[in-house]
Amino acid sequence: MSRFQVIAAICALAVGVIATPMLTHTKRQNVGEATYYYPGEGACGYYNTSDQPVLALSVDIWNNGEYCMQWVELTDPATGVTQYGQVVDECQGCDSTHVDLSPSLFESLGAPLSQGVISPLDWQFA
Ligand SMILES: *[C@@H]1O[C@H](CO)[C@@H](O)[C@H](O)[C@H]1NC(C)=O
Repeated sequence: MSRFQVIAAICALAVGVIATPMLTHTKRQNVGEATYYYPGEGACGYYNTSDQPVLALSVDIWNNGEYCMQWVELTDPATGVTQYGQVVDECQGCDSTHVDLSPSLFESLGAPLSQGVISPLDWQFA
């Protein structure tokens, strides 16, 4: 290898190491909690109802609606139940990894609404 090739190889390695976490950022598994809310007209600009599997993301992750209409995979580690919900709104009062679910999505994870919160809850963009 010439000196240039060695430098190029080191640079490629460095870029790979630095770029990997950024590429996997949105695919990472988040551990948070879930509550429920009654959807209506969401911040993504669509109207959804309580019987649809939709959710709101925290202000931290919202990023100007970057994930609007994307699907999220949610798993309750206590029961192993996995469900999918679509991002339609922003949750003002949510901590970073806290997701706010429609009542039907919350219940489909196996928890009664009276439970109020599912914690921990594992989720990631599908
Ligand atoms: C939410 O509402 C929009 C607009 O009506 C619709 O396209 C979308 O399919 C709804 N999401 C779900 C999960 O029902």
